[in-house]
Amino acid sequence: MSMKIMITAAEPTPVRWAAEAANVIAAVLKAHPAATIGFPTGETPLPVYAELRRRVTQGQIDVSRCRALMLDEYLDPPEESYTSWSWLSHEVFAPLGLSSDRVRRLPWHSKGVETACAAFERRLRLEDGCDLQILGLGANGHIGFNEPGSAADSRTRAVKLTAATAAANRAYWHGEYEPEWAVTQGIATILAARKILLLARGGAKASILRRALTGPRDPEVPASFLRGASAVHVLADEAAAAALPRSLDYNIEWL
Ligand code: F6R
Repeated sequence: MSMKIMITAAEPTPVRWAAEAANVIAAVLKAHPAATIGFPTGETPLPVYAELRRRVTQGQIDVSRCRALMLDEYLDPPEESYTSWSWLSHEVFAPLGLSSDRVRRLPWHSKGVETACAAFERRLRLEDGCDLQILGLGANGHIGFNEPGSAADSRTRAVKLTAATAAANRAYWHGEYEPEWAVTQGIATILAARKILLLARGGAKASILRRALTGPRDPEVPASFLRGASAVHVLADEAAAAALPRSLDYNIEWL
């Protein structure tokens, strides 16, 4: 297991922070041009996706052979436009030229969801797994939509969102839609990725990042299970890293 924590100095807009995340993604693609990369939604990765689009457009990163993997999805939204799929298509897949045959999509209908989740897992295994899973960090410690109480051996499945997560997601959709149920890669599915990049930005993530990295490995803080993954890069800005103890057992790089 290897854990590396990279902390970027405070900046008015997260330029350096996003560039460091893009560097991690670029390094994976350089080593494995046909890499499979998992993408989260949410506020945190937006500057990273903007930087990725810029580098791809300028020919600095080649994604022509890579595959994309969804991390989570809403279940039974009123329209397909309220899916993580459509959000990611707009932010990542379409601008990067990742056609739908190169994206491993999660189901968004509850009918047949168990079978569809099992098929997602099977295909992931057949296609040699995930090279880089990018993650955000929920205020309650969730990763993907593995809410507190999720088991370390959980796999891709339907889950009920907590009220706080549902409300946070409602805000992404300007109050037009509030998801109740979702599908998520399980903790074990995420941990099987050959590399994980955990992104954290802003003071609102400081105490949960501390609990995830220094507290007990506990289903109540699903992100604490990341310490069992084979290679984890945590990229935090100074505000998100503010509650971390100065001495940690991990390799810390101040950027
Ligand atoms: C969404 C996802 C979630 C978010 C988390 C943080 O696909 O995986 O775990 O990463 O809720 O959300 P933001 O980035 O909006 O703070």
